[in-house]
Amino acid sequence: MLKGRNLIDPMDFTTEELEEVFKTADKIIENPKDFAHVCDGKLLATLFYEPSTRTRLSFEAAMLRLGGQVLGFSQASSSSVSKGESVMDTVRTVACYADIVAMRHPKEGAPKVGAMKSDIPVINAGDGGHQHPTQTLTDLLTIRCIKGNLSNLTIGLCGDLKFGRTVHSLIKAMSRYKNNKFILISPNELKVPDYITKEVLEKNNIEYREVEKLEDVIDELDILYMTRVQRERFFNEEDYIRLKDSYILDSEKMEKAKKDMIVLHPLPRVNEIAYEVDDDPRACYFKQAKYGMYVRMALISKLLGVDK
Ligand code: NCD
Repeated sequence: MLKGRNLIDPMDFTTEELEEVFKTADKIIENPKDFAHVCDGKLLATLFYEPSTRTRLSFEAAMLRLGGQVLGFSQASSSSVSKGESVMDTVRTVACYADIVAMRHPKEGAPKVGAMKSDIPVINAGDGGHQHPTQTLTDLLTIRCIKGNLSNLTIGLCGDLKFGRTVHSLIKAMSRYKNNKFILISPNELKVPDYITKEVLEKNNIEYREVEKLEDVIDELDILYMTRVQRERFFNEEDYIRLKDSYILDSEKMEKAKKDMIVLHPLPRVNEIAYEVDDDPRACYFKQAKYGMYVRMALISKLLGVDK
C-alpha cells in the first residue's frame, strides 16, 4: 500500500511498489479521462526553495489533470523561510492546509526533515546534489515504455556525475533490476561519489566502468543519459568554466551509437546535446518530460489512495 507514504529516496519503494505506480501511469496514458476527477477537492502544496521549471510545473500539471488544485511558492524569499522558519515547521503548517506536499530544497536531507512531523505525504522533488526520486520514476517509466523492460541494459551516464542528483538516484534504482551494467563517463573531477560506487555498485556486485571519453564507449550503450554540469553546486566559477563543455553530444558521435540506443536527459540542457541531435529518432528527452507528468499523476493518486 502506498497510501499515506512519503517518497524521499528512490529506494523507499520496493520494485513491486514501483511497478504499481507504473501500471497506474499506463492506465492514465491510455485513458486520461478516467483520472480527470480522482483528486477533486484535493490540494497539492509545492514548496520550492530552489529554481525549477519541469519538476514544479509537471507536479502542478499532474495535480490539475487529476482534478485537484495547487498552492505553494517557487522561491524561498517569498516564504517565511526568509524570517528564519525551519523546514519542519513550514511543512507542519502546510499540512494543515493541503493534502500532499512536493518539496525541492538546496540542502541535502531537507525533505526528509520536513516529512518528520508531517501527517500528509511528502515527496522529495530534489534535495541539493543528493537525490531526485521523481525524476527517477520519470526515467524508469520512459525506459520501460520505450525499451520494453528495465533489465539487461548497458546504461551510460555522462557529464556531471558528482553533483547530478538525478544520476545518483537513477543508479540506485536501476541497480535493483537484473543484469544492468553501468558505464560512468565523466571528467576525473566530476566522478560519481564513493557512496554510490562503493555502497551501491560494489556492494551489490554490479558491473561498472569509469571512463573519460564518450566516443570510446558510445557504441556499447543501450541508454545514454546526458547531464548538465551543475553550475550552482560549484565552489568556484573557474572550475565550472573549465569543465562545462566537457561533453557535447552531436550527430557525428550519434553515428557510432546503436540504432536502438536512446538518449535521455533530465533537462534543462545547456550545451551538452547539440540541437541537431533533437531530430534523431533516438533522442527521447522531450518524450521523457511528458512521461514525467504521467508518472507524477500516478504517484499523487497512489499516495492519496485515489487511484482506480
Ligand atoms: C534536474 C534537477 O533539478 O536535478 N532537473 C530536473 O529536475 N528535470 C537536472 C538538472 O537540473 O540538471
